[in-house]
Amino acid sequence: MINELEKDIDRILFSEDDIKAMVKKVADEINEDYAGKKPVLVALLKGSVIFASDLMRGLVIDCEIDFMKVSSYSGTQSTGVINIVSDIRTDISNRHVIIIEDIVDTGLTLYKLKELLAGRNPASLKICTLLDKPSGRKADVYADYIGGTVGNEFIVGCGLDYNEKYRNLPYIGVMRNS
Ligand code: IMP
Repeated sequence: MINELEKDIDRILFSEDDIKAMVKKVADEINEDYAGKKPVLVALLKGSVIFASDLMRGLVIDCEIDFMKVSSYSGTQSTGVINIVSDIRTDISNRHVIIIEDIVDTGLTLYKLKELLAGRNPASLKICTLLDKPSGRKADVYADYIGGTVGNEFIVGCGLDYNEKYRNLPYIGVMRNS
């Protein structure tokens, strides 16, 4: 069957095997750091869904998952405001929380989200991202667990989209003309 998406991909940055290795690396770190702690994974919709489910299957500790959808809008980029489209139902007070993200770019969304979740008094709050794009950073926020690092090209696949397309690509690729 013809692959309808591949023609738009210039090159593969991370193969399925690369992604498996990145997920395993992060899962191993979390397994070690959270042994006996029962963390709540807060997966950000929609991009992190594939990473979050892969990651969860790599965890051998007791854990829970919940989902949150936020959108960020900003008058000026340095004063990003976060809008909760869909909130978690889990009470995270005194819980160990790990935010699960697909990619951290400017960091503006995560900066605000971290502030918001910190206000709910979790026992601890960390960030886990499949990919980090440090060249795009505009807010002082860093992920505690990082699968891999990318440059400033626009990438799609494994949850990452362009106008809602390409999330289902099993690898991560750079778009043509990006
Ligand atoms: P930021 O860190 O607040 O700029 O937001 C990060 C979000 O921007 C991610 O969750 C993605 O939805 C999106 N994003 C950033 N870079 C890319 C990319 O290269 N491909 C697809 N989505 C991206």
